[in-house]
Amino acid sequence: MKIIAISDYEGMSREAANIISTQVMQFPNSVLGLATGRTPLGIYRYLIDRYQRENVDYSKISTVNLDEYCGLPSNNEQSYHYYMYSNFFDHVNIPKENINIPNGIVEDVDSECIRYEKRITELGGIDLQLLGIGNTGHIGFNEPDESFAKATHCVKLKQKTIETNAIFFKSPDQVPKYAITVGIRAIMSAKKIVLIASGSEKTEILYRALFGLVTPSVPASILQFHPDVTVVATEDALTQIRQKTDAIL
Ligand code: F6R
Repeated sequence: MKIIAISDYEGMSREAANIISTQVMQFPNSVLGLATGRTPLGIYRYLIDRYQRENVDYSKISTVNLDEYCGLPSNNEQSYHYYMYSNFFDHVNIPKENINIPNGIVEDVDSECIRYEKRITELGGIDLQLLGIGNTGHIGFNEPDESFAKATHCVKLKQKTIETNAIFFKSPDQVPKYAITVGIRAIMSAKKIVLIASGSEKTEILYRALFGLVTPSVPASILQFHPDVTVVATEDALTQIRQKTDAIL
């Protein structure tokens, strides 16, 4: 595992965006696994900037988003569909048919999960997976559990996740209780993983995920078994790792 320590959020965003742009330029047919949330917003800004200034070409790129809330239509501003289009897809030349996001408003959620998993397989898996980390240790919306959920599935969000994500909603009771998320298998099968973290509130969970026990009660800890993980994080998120390990030079 490679850890890149950056002093601030802008630098972290630029560094992670450089890794993704390099992937797109070197392998224009790549399948990108994408995340939402607060942390990647700067990355999408830098990717759009490089697309506009350097003509980074996304015309053959496919994308697979990690998750979507159940019950939110794509025109709902809090949906991850809306987030992805407004913050990224509307500004680069990824063909619409190459964009994949779970459909959170289907009647038959189980069939949607099966369809999504099959789609990832048809695409040949994910080449580069961008991941944030939740305060519960979740990646995607794979919340702490008794075992690692392998396939795309519907998950009941932890109260802590609902509270953390409530800032995007008018009140916590508007945050959907369920979401569809890609499972651990597709994430762990990605050829390359870029894990991003910013802010002191992530420092404990980041340490536990990367240096603690590998356990489904900290789902991100499974990343310790992945052969190609690059962590791009701000210094405040890396405080505990600096204090307790010699992993960062
Ligand atoms: C979002 C996702 C989540 C977030 C995580 C961190 O698609 O999969 O795992 O990456 O909740 O969110 P932020 O970046 O808001 O701290």
